[in-house]
Amino acid sequence: DDHDHHDDNGAHELRVSKIQDGTVIDHVRGGQALNVLAILGIDGTDGEEVSVGMNVPSNRFARKDIVKVEGRELSQDEVDVLSLIAPDATINIVRDYEVVEKHRVERPEYVEGVLSCPNADCITTGDEPVTSRFEVLPDGVRCTYCETIIREEIAALIDTA
Ligand code: CTP
Ligand code: ZN
Repeated sequence: DDHDHHDDNGAHELRVSKIQDGTVIDHVRGGQALNVLAILGIDGTDGEEVSVGMNVPSNRFARKDIVKVEGRELSQDEVDVLSLIAPDATINIVRDYEVVEKHRVERPEYVEGVLSCPNADCITTGDEPVTSRFEVLPDGVRCTYCETIIREEIAALIDTA
């Protein structure tokens, strides 16, 4: 890893407090933190304890976002969807203030039922209930049914309902 003490995690420059138990989603692309919260269904109304750092300095990228969720460990499904908007993210599981697990997100081959196709003529957007299915490409996603490719604004297609 390219970890060194000039990263924002150095004790001299901790922007967001450490958490006791939960998940730290680190190395999120700058500007994507609010989309990470949307994917996790976090809007603050349930009283979750959440800290967000946006555009904080990082040595891996020029700037990164970071999201810390107290009292929650993420499911694989959630991590799969996160990988679409935060492909370089690190998921850190924290217990009793220590990082006990750390893994990079991996992009799945397909995501089902999590994005809605923007094509109004697509079978998945019609009256019949058809679960959406997108192939994950290196630089976007492609609807399995109508082959529409989306490269930007993927977060806007996330079915948070
Ligand atoms: N962290 C936290 N609360 C804790 C422990 C860690 O918020 N109780 C955060 C750290 O601030 C850091 C991330 O979790 O942003 C990962 O922690 P750690 O593995 O200790 O840092 P690094 O070694 O710098 O991680 P990496 O190499 O993945 O950059
Ligand atoms: Zn489609």
